[in-house]
Amino acid sequence: MNRTVVITGTASGFGLDSVRLFASHGWNVVATVRKEKDLNVHDALPNVKTLLLDVNDEEADAAFAEQAVAQFGGVDVLVNNAGYYHMGPVEAGSMQQFHDQFQTNVFGLMALTKAFLPIFREQRSGVIINISSISADQGYPYTAVYAASKAAVAAFTEGLNVEMADFGVSAKAIFPGAHATRIFTKIDQAAGGVAAHYQDAMMRFFGNQGTGTSPAVTAQAIYEAATDQKIGKVRYYTGPDGVAIPRVKQLLGADWYWEEFRNAATGNPSDLWKSLVKQGDEPVEFAL
Ligand SMILES: NC(=O)c1ccc[n+]([C@@H]2O[C@H](COP(=O)([O-])OP(=O)(O)OC[C@H]3O[C@@H](n4cnc5c(N)ncnc54)[C@H](OP(=O)(O)O)[C@@H]3O)[C@@H](O)[C@H]2O)c1
Repeated sequence: MNRTVVITGTASGFGLDSVRLFASHGWNVVATVRKEKDLNVHDALPNVKTLLLDVNDEEADAAFAEQAVAQFGGVDVLVNNAGYYHMGPVEAGSMQQFHDQFQTNVFGLMALTKAFLPIFREQRSGVIINISSISADQGYPYTAVYAASKAAVAAFTEGLNVEMADFGVSAKAIFPGAHATRIFTKIDQAAGGVAAHYQDAMMRFFGNQGTGTSPAVTAQAIYEAATDQKIGKVRYYTGPDGVAIPRVKQLLGADWYWEEFRNAATGNPSDLWKSLVKQGDEPVEFAL
């Protein structure tokens, strides 16, 4: 029997490319979108059922898990991909924006995971793949709240990986670097007027960031995490910067890395930093 994957947030980006990749390998796919207008986005693909799900609606998760299982008679992999990007200086964001960011990126992910855990535990198999971010490993400026939400996802995934070990169930996290997806066209901006005080520093920081690589690179890593049968492997780094950063951190050690990162982020990258980061141009996964 073909295996079945559930993927959230599939109207664009990593989710869309993952649906296409899993389907091309013969998987059954339960793909979720949150807008009715996107329900036909996968119509051309065989063995893909598209369902509506807003991950903020925690009450809906139990019924959704049942519905997902009913589509193809079981679920083998859950990919918690849905998320969005809150950006701006901490001082300028509202507490409501911070709560909303955690609601979608963290609590929505936890709640959907909880809905699938009894299914995976009882069948004594299953892989949960959570999309974190390279910014989980060291908080990026002007996206500190987003980075904190992704750090929560990373820690949650590591703890869960061990908790589920006795049941043959694995939890893994993907740490993508910057990818060119629609997420950057839907940024939730910190709107407080004090943001003006940070404008120059923000321009300096974001002006040095790359444009981002193709989301297909990370879809490939998600597929690898689903199929490599490395039950204890949690961390998958993807994209040029996602590959380079752990490598640089290994070479320099955590404290020295932080000093170099901070200098680079405040507009004074050292020559050493520039040469080390440059080594990461190949879009391949870097295993720690
Ligand atoms: N792009 C990057 O550089 C990058 C780097 C690291 C991590 N990530 C993470 O990767 C994941 C996918 O992002 P992406 O870059 O592929 O962006 P994307 O194209 O915007 O895809 C995100 C998807 O999540 C959906 N979504 C957002 N809030 C939702 C909610 N409350 N309920 C259900 N679905 C929701 C979006 O739906 P709508 O289409 O309706 O908005 C969209 O389909 C996110 O978790 C993101 O944080 C992205």
